[in-house]
Amino acid sequence: MTELLVDIIAGARPNFMKIAPIIRAIQARRAQGGPLRFRLVHTGQHYDERMSGDFFRQLGIPAPDVNLEVGSGTAAEQTAGIMVRYEKLLMERKPALCLVVGDVTSTMACAIAAQKLWVPVAHVEAGIRSGDWTMPEEINRMVTDSITNLFFTTSDVANANLKRAGVGDDRIFFVGNTMIDTLLANMDRLAKPPFWDELGLQPGGYFVLTLHRPANVDSSGSFARLLRAIGEGTRGLPVVFPVHPRTAKTIREVADVPASLKLVEPQPYLEFNYLVKHAKAVITDSGGITEETTVMGVPCMTLRDSTERPETVSIGTNDLLGTDPAALAPALERLFAGKWKKGAIPPLWDGKTAERIVAALERVLVK
Ligand code: UD1
Repeated sequence: MTELLVDIIAGARPNFMKIAPIIRAIQARRAQGGPLRFRLVHTGQHYDERMSGDFFRQLGIPAPDVNLEVGSGTAAEQTAGIMVRYEKLLMERKPALCLVVGDVTSTMACAIAAQKLWVPVAHVEAGIRSGDWTMPEEINRMVTDSITNLFFTTSDVANANLKRAGVGDDRIFFVGNTMIDTLLANMDRLAKPPFWDELGLQPGGYFVLTLHRPANVDSSGSFARLLRAIGEGTRGLPVVFPVHPRTAKTIREVADVPASLKLVEPQPYLEFNYLVKHAKAVITDSGGITEETTVMGVPCMTLRDSTERPETVSIGTNDLLGTDPAALAPALERLFAGKWKKGAIPPLWDGKTAERIVAALERVLVK
């Protein structure tokens, strides 16, 4: 039997939970005699223990075979750096396929480098669109999908977006959500963070806040207004705020962070999702977190004007509030009045997505 090498690309924090189950599914099939082998390529876009190492350890991801060590920089510097380094690796040994996940700079950069050397590309979480070109992730999604061969999708909306763009049915694989594979696999392992008692946290008695989008955190004036509105609307309950490195830079310039906001380091996976699972609600500008809150049935308020994950709103527990701080008060009133929607789990978010991906890859790659 011919062995088939797949490059699995991971670069930034939200990639790690998406690749973990795919790696496990490849390893499981290999133990049964399956043909796929992988080369794990870490681009080094996120490099801190807090943003990267902790996730590898907690999720049991093997050490990367290669680390491109691109580090921080502007979008163009990171894209170019990853492309140059990954191209060199591809020229040393070409895989049968390059598998990218999500929408970060590393996703797009590696897809371009691979496709230019005639290495076919598979994109996991393909087809989702916010329509907002000011988000770097939207550009990454559009560019990646324009040169992807195999599209693995999380939702019917993603399928429809791809079909509208002219992608044939035979290249679209509606498989579900690998991030949810990871969440379901780890639900019993979620771990109380060390500051739980110190902050006096009680199940259902606190909020979780995450903010890192440039539109929300890059200007200290509007960021300060947003934090004030959150402090007021949450009625003195503790608001646990794991601060992303990008956000940490601006928060230093905010003089009056409300006292109920509890600033903590970025949390490892198991601690972060423990916090989410037991929170009264989550306030965020992340996309992935809205999927996790939907599956855990935790109310979620998204401080963005658009979402590439509309099923978290139409089916799940998420509501899109926009970026005007004034929208928070009425939403929080609805929550405190016990009127937040209950939500349901979107189709195929069942913990078996990675197995479906690996089965499809075997069907397509083994000629
Ligand atoms: C990236 C992703 C975003 C994802 C987010 C999750 C893109 C375009 N954006 O945004 O989709 O939601 O990661 O975290 O790819 N930094 C550190 N330590 C690290 C990594 C970064 O201190 O390990 C600092 C960098 O120096 C930089 C800032 O954090 O100043 C932003 O990092 P960067 O990777 O450029 O983008 P994110 O905002 O994290």
